[in-house]
Amino acid sequence: MNKFIDVTDIGPLDKALAEAADIKHNRFAYTGLGRNRTLLMIFFNSSLRTRLSTQKAAMNLGMNVMVLDVNQGAWKLETERGVVMDGDKAEHLLEAIPVMGSYCDIIGVRSFAGLKDRDEDYEERVINQFIRYSGRPVFSMEAATRHPLQSFADLITIEEFKTKPRPKVVLTWAPHPKALPQAVANSFAEWINATDYDFVITHPHGYELDPAFVGGAHVEYDQRRAFEGADFIYAKNWSAYTAPNYGKVLSTDRDWTVDAAKMALTDNARFMHCLPVRRNMIVTDDVIESERSIVIPEAANREISAQVVIKRLLESLPH
Ligand code: CP
Repeated sequence: MNKFIDVTDIGPLDKALAEAADIKHNRFAYTGLGRNRTLLMIFFNSSLRTRLSTQKAAMNLGMNVMVLDVNQGAWKLETERGVVMDGDKAEHLLEAIPVMGSYCDIIGVRSFAGLKDRDEDYEERVINQFIRYSGRPVFSMEAATRHPLQSFADLITIEEFKTKPRPKVVLTWAPHPKALPQAVANSFAEWINATDYDFVITHPHGYELDPAFVGGAHVEYDQRRAFEGADFIYAKNWSAYTAPNYGKVLSTDRDWTVDAAKMALTDNARFMHCLPVRRNMIVTDDVIESERSIVIPEAANREISAQVVIKRLLESLPH
């Protein structure tokens, strides 16, 4: 594996999940693999979990880690080719990327959607430029349209907590005051569609996701009906995908907040969210604090998903 940007890069899921279980039980078994190897983590956007879990995973593998926050202390980077650089951006990504590649063995990139131009976001220009020009294996720490390290951790978590072979998993939109990318929802759908789970997506009208990610999932506009018999409720907000409303907040209707009354419609479902979460917008205090909430083990599994991915990228390097 020499890149990790979507579910296809990880190969067969059963093998990846078995590797995750192996690493979870013995996370220091491969400390020699990363010796004298350097991971560069580049953040164009903020992070708590991705930053810490990915760094911890790399340290478990014996790597050195460098972190660059592009918007704090680095030159502002121009990402468009052909621009006359007479503004506040001092360096072009096309020089910066190979320079960064010269200092490391593997690169992780976080670069969110701008939510202004759908075509530009869905072309994944930033991470694709890193893949093309860095000369290094590149992995996504959340790009414009996907968050595969999160989705892999979500799948590991569902496998750990499921009590039936083919659980009913519900991805539900929930309200948020700000416009958020579709990346987590897209990616979750992409990974769950790669399993044989019973998968339902529920959201208000106007919040339809890209059909390429929805795939064969059942879309149910009645959130309460979607929750009936569910084993896992995965809550997430996203802004509108469909033109002409791309990137807009169409509703903050708190009737879509996940609360105890809705959870009571499920088959004693587990509650999941990638975090950070806006309490009493996305989910009520009592649901996220309940014993059915698994948001903390879900976040802890980010270390495991990152370690599987970095391990495989290290194994792809020439000796
Ligand atoms: N879930 C997730 O990616 O969290 P951070 O944005 O804090 O990294």
